[in-house]
Parts: sequence; structure tokens; C-alpha cells
Amino acid sequence: MTEKNTKLSVDLIKKFSAGELQELCKATEEAITAGIGFSWIKPPPRQNLENYWKGVLAMPQRNLFIGSFEGAVAASLQLVFPNRSNEASSFSASIDTHFVSPWARGHGLARRLLEAGEDLAFKSGFSQILLEVRETQERAISLYESAEYNKWGTLPAYHIVNKKVVSGSFYYKRLESKK
Ligand SMILES: CC(C)(COP(=O)(O)OP(=O)(O)OC[C@H]1O[C@@H](n2cnc3c(N)ncnc32)[C@H](O)[C@@H]1OP(=O)(O)O)[C@@H](O)C(=O)NCCC(=O)NCCS
Repeated sequence: MTEKNTKLSVDLIKKFSAGELQELCKATEEAITAGIGFSWIKPPPRQNLENYWKGVLAMPQRNLFIGSFEGAVAASLQLVFPNRSNEASSFSASIDTHFVSPWARGHGLARRLLEAGEDLAFKSGFSQILLEVRETQERAISLYESAEYNKWGTLPAYHIVNKKVVSGSFYYKRLESKK
């Protein structure tokens, strides 16, 4: 899947083309340094990041979209399908590692990635998407709420960042309306 305009592209990838993995790692490092809001608090060694992203592509239930700005990888979103053994949640996919590197923000890339993930979820037969976000990620919260995600819960002790406990918000979106 590719959506292109003059500046932005969003691609669902199955393997990394030349240079793509390094660009994705660089974008991840930049976003971590700016406070990525999930997983890492400070950039891990480059090899660990490379292993992480390669591992994502190796897992069949993880669908990796990468976003590029003016030709360089700047963003990601994973649409995660439930494990096959999880029959009771077979209707519900989730979103992970949704970020845009600081230099590419404010141009609509995060929204494009979100829409691409929702399209794939719907086309794959899922009727619900779940995501979670740290309370301090105001841009992300405003994006998700404007995209009609409904907050269903708050976890007071969600993350510990620089010795401070930060709460998290949990969202769902039903996809029937897109039928
Ligand atoms: C949240 C994030 C992904 C947004 O990326 P982006 O490419 O700048 O977002 P877009 O340009 O697509 O904007 C989408 C929406 O984000 C919100 N947004 C963008 N910039 C904003 C700002 N400066 N202030 C408040 N809201 C903002 C708006 O709702 C915007 O919609 P609009 O353009 O229709 O007003 C990015 O800031 C980021 O990577 N943050 C750190 C990681 C993160 O918080 N991930 C969320 C899961 S934890």
C-alpha cells in the first residue's frame, strides 16, 4: 500500500529496502530523545533498535507501516493482530509504536499512518482498534480524539519516566461505521 503526495508517503512493508532500516532507527532515536511516549526512555544501542525492527517484520501478527517525509523514513505505526490462540479477542486489533520524528511533525504524517492502519484493520475483518497513550502526549491525544477514538479507561501508574509516575489513557474505536 502506498499513498503519495509531494512530501508524504505511507507504506506497509514486508522487508526493508536499502537504507530503510537505518533511517527508521535514526528516526526512532530522534523521537526517543524528544520523549517518544512508549517503550524506550533513552535511545538504546543502534544494534538493539535494528534487532527490534527486524523482529517486528518477523512476526506475522505485526503489520509495520513506515511513513516518509520528503523521501526519508520519519515515522512508524504497527497494526497488531491478536494471536490466533486468542479467539475471544479475534475481532480486535491494536496500534503500537505510532510516532513521527520531530523534524517531520505537523504535516499530517501521523494521521495518514493512523488511517492506513485503520483501513488495513477493516479490510482484514477487524471491527475494533485499541490503543493506549501516556497522559503527557498531548499531540497524540488530540489526534486520537479528533479521529473518533473513545477513552474507556485511565491507569494512574502507567509508566515511570525520570522517576516520575505518569498515568496512561486507553482508547477504542469501533470500525463498523466505515462499512
Ligand atoms: C503524536 C504524533 C505522532 C503526531 O505526529 P504529526 O505528524 O505531527 O501529526 P499530524 O501532522 O498528522 O497531525 C495530526 C493531529 O495531531 C494533532 N497535532 C499535531 N500537531 C499538534 C500540536 N502542535 N499541538 C496539538 N495537537 C497537534 C492534531 O490533532 C493534528 O490534527 P490536525 O492537523 O487535523 O489539527 C507526534 O507528535 C509524535 O510522534 N509524538 C510522540 C509519540 C507519541 O506520542 N505517540 C503516540 C502513542 S504513545
